[in-house]
Amino acid sequence: MILVSGASGTIGRYVVKHLKARGEKFKALVRDEAKGRALECDFVVGDFDQPETIARAMQGVTRFFLNTNVSERVVRQQNTAIDLATRAGVELVVKLSSPGASPDAQMPQTRSHGEIEAHLRAAGIAWVILQPTVFMQNLLRNADTLHAQRKIFGSYRDGKIGFIDADDIGACAAAALTGEGHAGKSFVLTGGESLRFDEIAQKISTKLGETVTYVDMPVEQFVAAAVARGVPSNMAEFYGKMMTILASGGSARTTGAVRELTGREPRTFEAFLDDNIARLVGSTNTYSSPK
Ligand SMILES: NC(=O)c1ccc[n+]([C@@H]2O[C@H](COP(=O)([O-])OP(=O)(O)OC[C@H]3O[C@@H](n4cnc5c(N)ncnc54)[C@H](OP(=O)(O)O)[C@@H]3O)[C@@H](O)[C@H]2O)c1
Repeated sequence: MILVSGASGTIGRYVVKHLKARGEKFKALVRDEAKGRALECDFVVGDFDQPETIARAMQGVTRFFLNTNVSERVVRQQNTAIDLATRAGVELVVKLSSPGASPDAQMPQTRSHGEIEAHLRAAGIAWVILQPTVFMQNLLRNADTLHAQRKIFGSYRDGKIGFIDADDIGACAAAALTGEGHAGKSFVLTGGESLRFDEIAQKISTKLGETVTYVDMPVEQFVAAAVARGVPSNMAEFYGKMMTILASGGSARTTGAVRELTGREPRTFEAFLDDNIARLVGSTNTYSSPK
């Protein structure tokens, strides 16, 4: 039995989609029963902040997909879940991490993933680590300005990014959870091509049949404008730091990891647009969910 945490999230919903497609026996871990019902699969209610609920959810589980959102509690939550999985006799943990994860990393999120990876490697349980690069789905955060002005604002300069579709991350997780020979390996998951933001705007223009423009601005200006729009200042600062890393080409490389795990090429940006164009240029700032 596979247990999928973060099942109602961006990646988790695709993990559920791909495990269903493979006909695997699994249950989703959700905090909210209604979200569990919406997934149309077996589910169990549990919360990483209530370890006894996770211990219960682990009963009969052999393989565990470990993911939550970014928060200051993530190291405690995920390390506790790893300990509970080890105690419950789980055979394999597939952890969703991020490239460059290290206890010494500069960005707090990357550092947290590094601390959790270190804990997992020392836990005496088999593991696979998935380090996806920037999600194509992050672009849905630009839905408001795309809808109102046909513009994307950012501070990415001419930095190339090897964007990956979250659908592919779900496919890789399903492959890692069910396949043999992946234990003890880390995979940096990327799409098949690296794109600048002006190239992304061009691809959206082609799909839409209307001109979409990428507007670059100094990072301080972007952060100030985001705060003025009501984005919490710590989130705006985080986006600003991420943009500075991406502008310098920090996520430009592509890898063959999606092909290695799934046996097929990563989804293209055009395929992502086919599925998401209405949400991308619509007015609702929301993430896509699997069909
Ligand atoms: N975005 C990127 O470009 C990017 C790139 C590389 C790595 N990452 C990594 O991706 C991860 C986020 O994945 P995502 O985008 O799929 O996250 P997400 O969409 O924010 O979903 C988070 C999931 O975790 C669940 N969750 C939150 N707190 C929980 C708790 N206390 N107990 C049980 N479940 C809980 C949420 O449940 P509810 O529905 O109940 O809230 C939801 O299902 C982060 O670790 C981030 O560092 C992101």
